[in-house]
Amino acid sequence: MTAAGHSMRAYYARRAPYYDAVYERPERQADLAWMRQRLEHQMADQRVLEVACGTGYWTQFAAPVSASMVATDATPEPLALARLRPNCSRAEFVLADAYFLPPNLGRFTAAFAGLWLSHVPIGRRPAFLTSVVALLEPGARVVLFDNSTVQCRDFPVVESDAEGNTFQQRVLRDGSSHRVLKNFPDEAALMAMIDGVGVRPRYQMLENFWWFEYTVT
Ligand SMILES: C[S@@+](CC[C@H](N)C(=O)[O-])C[C@H]1O[C@@H](n2cnc3c(N)ncnc32)[C@H](O)[C@@H]1O
Repeated sequence: MTAAGHSMRAYYARRAPYYDAVYERPERQADLAWMRQRLEHQMADQRVLEVACGTGYWTQFAAPVSASMVATDATPEPLALARLRPNCSRAEFVLADAYFLPPNLGRFTAAFAGLWLSHVPIGRRPAFLTSVVALLEPGARVVLFDNSTVQCRDFPVVESDAEGNTFQQRVLRDGSSHRVLKNFPDEAALMAMIDGVGVRPRYQMLENFWWFEYTVT
């Protein structure tokens, strides 16, 4: 785990008790309803792998429609809350690093990660996708979704690095301040990311989120 990775986990550990407030904002409800419906459709009857599940907000929709599900996160605090979610009896929760998913997690026919790719440094995207695809059956569908740049109204980008990664400064309720890597890949960047490893892409821009799917080759 890199130093940046440690600080990201520390941030989400402290934020875990009230993380779900992001899903209560009225202006996000229409998008969230669309995303839930689409996720349920894509994960129905699949053997599902979820990466960076956090408190299990999306797990609670995917697990009941799945054939089986493993939901992973690298931070124990949100994962402990995810384990308390109702309707998740079909899901197994496992502490695991997205870049080094253990081979013994299983073999999956679909995978998704919500609000995670934005935290992956541009240079580590191939490592993340490789880690996931190693556990997938050929033809598996991968679903990624994350915040649109509308989120920057709350947390403006304060810094960028030579690779093009962008950073926000976020203050938590306990007063601690955290520099958080938060990228906003556009459609072209997502298409480039799967060049040679994915086919049949689908991109959907919503108001507050983007949605991206592809099939592994
Ligand atoms: C923005 S939250 C998203 C949570 C959830 N997927 C959602 O959409 O509500 C990002 C999550 O990534 C997790 N995380 C941070 N570094 C990770 C890593 N290296 N591997 C897996 N998960 C990680 C954090 O613990 C946190 O729960």
